[in-house]
Amino acid sequence: MSGLSGWEIGKTKMQLSIIEHGGHEYDLAVVLRDRVLRQPLGLQFTAEQLSAESSNVHVVGSIEDQIMACCVLAQRDQGWFQARQVAVDFDFQRCGYGQQLMEFAHRYVASIGATKIYCHSRDVAVPFYVRLGYQAVGEYFEEVSIQHVRMEKDLVQEI
Ligand SMILES: CC(C)(COP(=O)(O)OP(=O)(O)OC[C@H]1O[C@@H](n2cnc3c(N)ncnc32)[C@H](O)[C@@H]1OP(=O)(O)O)[C@@H](O)C(=O)NCCC(=O)NCCS
Repeated sequence: MSGLSGWEIGKTKMQLSIIEHGGHEYDLAVVLRDRVLRQPLGLQFTAEQLSAESSNVHVVGSIEDQIMACCVLAQRDQGWFQARQVAVDFDFQRCGYGQQLMEFAHRYVASIGATKIYCHSRDVAVPFYVRLGYQAVGEYFEEVSIQHVRMEKDLVQEI
């Protein structure tokens, strides 16, 4: 993407899709998650962590066949889903793609019965989730060595 400004990147259409756990696209999404979410913290995924995602919903965004955004949606009890591993590749951040990704994720989980969604938001990502209509609940806590807060959103209006 070198040579394109953020404005020009932001005009490029992102394709959104649900992918299978364990396939080639899943592997590419894990590479993206590793680069954006784990390496900056000096961490890496374990085989057990990735295996445990087999029942989750995996959403990816791609531009010209390059996966540059993703999230993982885990079904919880009583109509709740948890959004996890929300990542947009560095060159594509602050262009609106993260918002498009999550709006797609909200519509998808609402279509399969979710009424509420929550995430554990990093402190730096709180304004992103607030913009999406989430509200912070409770105290900050440490996860993967950084501060997080639970954020929740009612999905009834998405159905
Ligand atoms: C957080 C992240 C997913 C957001 O995706 P994005 O594509 O960069 O965000 P968008 O461009 O869709 O942002 C939509 C709106 O959210 C808000 N927002 C997003 N990032 C923000 C930030 N760092 N500071 C303040 N507001 C922010 C803004 O209101 C923005 O709209 P605007 O640019 O018109 O002002 C992405 O930046 C990312 O992957 N960051 C690193 C990993 C991470 O923190 N993931 C979240 C784990 S909980």
